[in-house]
Amino acid sequence: MNHITKDILYAGVNDHDIDLFEGQYIVPLGMAYNSYVILDEKIAVMDSVDKHFGEEWLGNLEEAFAGRTPDYLVVQHMEPDHSANIALFMEKYPGATVVASAKAFTMMKNFYGNEYADRRIVAAEGTELVLGNHVLQFIAAPMVHWPEVLMTYDRTDKVLFSADAFGKFGALDREDPEGWACEARRYYFGIVGKYGAQAQAVLKKASVLDIRVICPLHGPVLTEDLPYYLGLYNTWTTYGVETEGVAVFYTSVYGNTEKAVQILEEKLKKKGCPKVAVSDLARDDMAECVEDAFRYGKVVLATTTYNADIFPFMRTFIETLAEHGWRGRKVGLIENGSWAPTAAKVMKGLLENCKDTSFAETQVKILSAVTDENIAQIDALADEMLR
Ligand code: FEO
Repeated sequence: MNHITKDILYAGVNDHDIDLFEGQYIVPLGMAYNSYVILDEKIAVMDSVDKHFGEEWLGNLEEAFAGRTPDYLVVQHMEPDHSANIALFMEKYPGATVVASAKAFTMMKNFYGNEYADRRIVAAEGTELVLGNHVLQFIAAPMVHWPEVLMTYDRTDKVLFSADAFGKFGALDREDPEGWACEARRYYFGIVGKYGAQAQAVLKKASVLDIRVICPLHGPVLTEDLPYYLGLYNTWTTYGVETEGVAVFYTSVYGNTEKAVQILEEKLKKKGCPKVAVSDLARDDMAECVEDAFRYGKVVLATTTYNADIFPFMRTFIETLAEHGWRGRKVGLIENGSWAPTAAKVMKGLLENCKDTSFAETQVKILSAVTDENIAQIDALADEMLR
């Protein structure tokens, strides 16, 4: 068994069959649903796993229990990727008690028809659960990522069970060639991004704790260099700029808007832009594009006029950003339109839903193909984006 500390064991599972996580995110490296066992005079299990892995999870638990029976199932989060096997567990271990927030018990009844009225402890901010040597302290973490969420701090081993926070796409038996941050960022902004203020409030509560290990519900257990992970989360939850440079997002029907983007990319690089990240919204993963929009402080949007509106992928992109609370960025606009260009106006209108957006004065207007005049506009836009 995989020991995290002497008394805390990993009991989660890896999923390589999933097509889309939460019905929308591609996960080329699969997904992990983490669960943990704390062995003490009393035994606590931290969360269950996705419904397809109930038997495997019970097998992992049995191995961890080594002949003993568990006392508590702590349910930090009711999203079914973690709660699906509560009933299986409670049937197998009739002496066990469920520990969760009041809201979680309501959701338990709504999802699974049982709120374990006679086998439960209702926990809230500050509630403690003494297992023997280990004392668990619960921290309310509403909207990270649902309203019922609790995080749990093991005061004895100084371990933070962080629910969805500090999670990452990817199974634990696949090495991620890009390291932790890339898929953790895509996961954070896709799943929690809208609730930066709530996530920041929990980070503040966590900042007074002496944390040696972070055990999230997805992704690897974090044991070293915790200031690095906490620092990134601080940037992400405050909508700060993580990487200096310009992110460019475009759609192009016949390659003319794409050409303008290529010219802009070259000019930005020549003028010393530290990083230019270009994405084709019709072909690249939308969640990856969303995380890049949050990652950089300066963004250029280039699209065509389409049905007196904008190309659908650009509309979806801007609406997704607005939905996720995207804010505080400088935006440059490039529009294309063969007879009645309206794309820049439509984009500006949609961006009104994104707080504190500022716009570059230079707007590039292409009437079908890129002209010399457009090249001069693109040059001016590149200068402005670097200011
Ligand atoms: Fe991993 Fe919000 O569930």
